[in-house]
Amino acid sequence: MSAGLLERFDRVIARKGYANRSEAIRDLVRDRLVEEEWERGDHEVVGALTLIYDHDAQALIMKLMDLQHEMHGRVVSTLHVHLDAYHCLETMVLRGPADAVRETAEKIISLKGVKHGKLTATSVGEYLT
Ligand code: NI
Repeated sequence: MSAGLLERFDRVIARKGYANRSEAIRDLVRDRLVEEEWERGDHEVVGALTLIYDHDAQALIMKLMDLQHEMHGRVVSTLHVHLDAYHCLETMVLRGPADAVRETAEKIISLKGVKHGKLTATSVGEYLT
């Protein structure tokens, strides 16, 4: 690795608060390995899907409830926060084969009334042990 590249890396990890280079590299490697697990579509993963939607979107709220009952094995838990007078934030923990989790998240994000949705992909898979 070139000295310039290493120098830039050291600046970034110092800013992020890493105690040393080894800790930072370990996190990068784990992150890449989790990605690898998600790329293997049948691999068991876990994800946190965060949604923002209108408190007034009654049809969406009913649809979300129906979906969660339909997919009770896929949706592990849901956290709801009444953000302000108009907006709700919901975080759903999804688990299952990567392709199925991704598909479920995309289906939910694309529902009419969801203003923003994001899936955080993670795993406690074989690579993290
Ligand atoms: Ni709410």
